[in-house]
Amino acid sequence: MSNKIYPVDAAYAAQTRITRAQYEALYAESVADPEGFWSRIAQRLDWIRPFTQVKDVSFAVEDFRIRWFADGALNVSANCLDRHLASRGDKTAIVFEGDDPADSRRITYRELHAEVCRAANLLRNLGIGKGDRVAIYLPMIPEAAVAMLACARIGAVHSVVFGGFSPDSLAGRIADSQCKLVITADEGLRGGKKVPLKANVDEALTRPGTTSVETVLVVRRTGAPIAMQTPRDRWWAALVAEQAAECAPEAVNAEDPLFILYTSGSTGKPKGVLHTSGGYLTYVSYTHECVFDLREDDVYWCTADVGWVTGHSYVVYGPLANGATTLMFEGVPNWPDISRFWQVVDKHQVTIFYTAPTAIRALMREGEEPVRRTSRQSIRLLGTVGEPINPEAWEWYHRVVGDGRCPIVDTWWQTETGGALITPLPGAIDAKPGSATLPFFGVKPAIVDTNGAVQEGACEGNLILTDSWPGQMRTVYGDHERFIDTYFRTYPGAYFTGDGARRDADGYYWITGRVDDVINVSGHRIGTAEVESALVAHPKVAEAAVVGCPHDLKGQGIYAYVTLKAGENGSEELRKELVQWVRKEIGPIASPDYLQWAPGLPKTRSGKIMRRILRKIAENATDQLGDTSTLADPGVVQNLVEQRLIRA
Ligand code: WTA
Repeated sequence: MSNKIYPVDAAYAAQTRITRAQYEALYAESVADPEGFWSRIAQRLDWIRPFTQVKDVSFAVEDFRIRWFADGALNVSANCLDRHLASRGDKTAIVFEGDDPADSRRITYRELHAEVCRAANLLRNLGIGKGDRVAIYLPMIPEAAVAMLACARIGAVHSVVFGGFSPDSLAGRIADSQCKLVITADEGLRGGKKVPLKANVDEALTRPGTTSVETVLVVRRTGAPIAMQTPRDRWWAALVAEQAAECAPEAVNAEDPLFILYTSGSTGKPKGVLHTSGGYLTYVSYTHECVFDLREDDVYWCTADVGWVTGHSYVVYGPLANGATTLMFEGVPNWPDISRFWQVVDKHQVTIFYTAPTAIRALMREGEEPVRRTSRQSIRLLGTVGEPINPEAWEWYHRVVGDGRCPIVDTWWQTETGGALITPLPGAIDAKPGSATLPFFGVKPAIVDTNGAVQEGACEGNLILTDSWPGQMRTVYGDHERFIDTYFRTYPGAYFTGDGARRDADGYYWITGRVDDVINVSGHRIGTAEVESALVAHPKVAEAAVVGCPHDLKGQGIYAYVTLKAGENGSEELRKELVQWVRKEIGPIASPDYLQWAPGLPKTRSGKIMRRILRKIAENATDQLGDTSTLADPGVVQNLVEQRLIRA
């Protein structure tokens, strides 16, 4: 924990949207009168049918509901496009920067509106209507945003699947929400390497449960020859071009779903996190404006992929709802060279830059020179998201990338929360490196001990939220019980985040990381159960237990303990094969960093694996194993400790 404070710069404070005094006053109002506060904020959107109800929430499991602006109706795409046309029609909505630095273009609000209308008409003509699910499996190209907004325009529900996920992962997501249509590309392009997206879709659609898919729309990205299956597969561009450039936006109820996004939890398969329309858009547009202190002429760049929630809320919906210029980057930070981020900043005169700590750590390792040789004078504000940032990386980001002159906003939030919940406001809140600082308006965090007792003052424990905010997820798609069980049973009357946190004497929050069986690898969530089930699906594996371990670049790495079937040998070759196997089953982000052979796993007499012990061994904290006497066979621990793979 760093004790250093970076006060709000006086010059910055003098021209900010929200000062410290305003933050205090607005926060007080937002928690004292959430109805009054949010009904005023929601006026920033265009409502087709104005709401009269604001907040209707109960976190009590026996009488559970989360509803915001429930009798209102709006259209999300009209809020992101149509209403800007009069004043911002010629303003750039999307700056596209391709993987190849020679490939970039700008799309105005007027052009984006026309393209979204055409795509929406196409979806309608293909039989997609309100409530139908559409899977989007695309690279970071403008068509991804167009596809999302086209769904929103007709009230269809999109489910974006990150392009790095395997055919099996894609199939599981398509099957769970019974998508009728898939939008993909021939291939993706990242760091000069091709990703066989269409071939992955073809494979996914051979899996059980995917027969709901009637149409596959294919965007031509690389021009590679691919197999087109008639009549199922159709080319996007040709069909879109035939459509009318006007499409009346569907009136959508505030509580109708906008999208499903699958994310990993403690147990079982990834959950379909469902967000609805009115509350979500209100929350992401308002947080985007306040957290980034947005100005009309900003060029805003969030490096997240649209396959993750950050890409939904802060590449597409928040910025476009605010009429901002948002940059979409197809590539990676280190290609063609390690200065790429900063070259893109200079090329497009980016003013706000928002990325993940893992990227900062990777760039930091390459030294200052690749950053220093670029100008970066256009940047005025920096942000981070996705995992705790270590103070060294924060300081480097501030001193080297921001030349010591740009505030940093460290935004804590989750797929489930829709938008940022604990975050500095750059003109109001002094920064402390490594702390997400204070709650956003309307957000009521609390810290509890393991018995659920709320702690006061400076303390450490599990982080809960005791009241709702408009951007909160509404359900797990198709499994409302799972939603309630996962988030609202552990601490009755509150939403449990799954994160641990510390609060200091100034009331600042320091997120300490997940306290459940979710691993945060480079800011991406992986469930230990998912990796375990991939491993045990291998014919030679009898049992597997997966935990997180410290990792210099990724924040957390994946550490797997594997017990082989009798007669199998733990060779180096098999180790590589299993790592490859997991990559193929889930995707490269789930590859184990360490794989240790375990002749036995530490289990209680009732057969439960003692993960606490496995975590300590993976952390090399072998002096903190605690009481092992309750194990069915305490002897297994000795072997695991001796064979451990991390020793420093
Ligand atoms: C972690 C990403 C510390 C946290 C938006 C959370 C963070 C999980 C921060 C959600 C931060 C996210 N500081 N930890 N600023 N931001 N996290 O669903 O553990 O992909 O629960 O959403 O990332 O990850 P998710």
